[in-house]
Amino acid sequence: MILSSSIIASDAARLGDQAREALDAGVDWLHIDVMDGRFVPNITVGPLVVEALRPLADETGAKLDVHLMIEEPRRYLDDFIDAGADLVTVHVETCTHLHRVLTHIRSRGAMAGVTLNPGTSLSAIAEVLPDVDMALVMSVDPGFSGQKYIPESTERIRRLRGMLNQIASRAWLQVDGGVYAGNIREVVRAGATVVVAGNAVFGGASIADNVQALRDAAALEA
Ligand code: DX5
Ligand code: ZN
Repeated sequence: MILSSSIIASDAARLGDQAREALDAGVDWLHIDVMDGRFVPNITVGPLVVEALRPLADETGAKLDVHLMIEEPRRYLDDFIDAGADLVTVHVETCTHLHRVLTHIRSRGAMAGVTLNPGTSLSAIAEVLPDVDMALVMSVDPGFSGQKYIPESTERIRRLRGMLNQIASRAWLQVDGGVYAGNIREVVRAGATVVVAGNAVFGGASIADNVQALRDAAALEA
């Protein structure tokens, strides 16, 4: 299981230190939530922050996992890739030409991810599954860290796992939103290979203890 920590939940004034602390504690990737105040109600960060985290990623071997929750992502793909994104994930709801967008990301040498809101049918991404490096099941309505995991997500993870297996895809299956020590095992058992955690990594007193608790819970026998 790959653990990707969502920096949206960190202390923004100490972003670099907190990202390093999470990586030292055993997190694998840094998940960067980009929100535009249009596709989702919140506004977060842009390519500058990806660029700022790139040296840390190079030093530690972490991937920069950029989740675009913005209208017309096509306009900004090159900016995020030039800034150093390893993986760029777009929402099907924002792409009229989804295949073109995914192909463009790969043509620039980055990995391409696709995702969808909890209210969008999985069939909306079925046709592009052969063209992605990662498919992401949102387990909250995108927009904010610290929301509650939507229970129906587990069944969606199972169904997407089945769809990927059916085409013998080796793409990662990522799950994002409301994951914590109490449900991470369920998420992994359903078929997730990359788990995003924001609040469960950066909330509370100790990032190291938080990461250990997530790792322990994920490894528990059913
Ligand atoms: C939601 C974001 C998630 C989320 C993760 O719009 O895409 O990455 O903030 O944070 P937690 O784990 O706190 O739900
Ligand atoms: Zn995210």
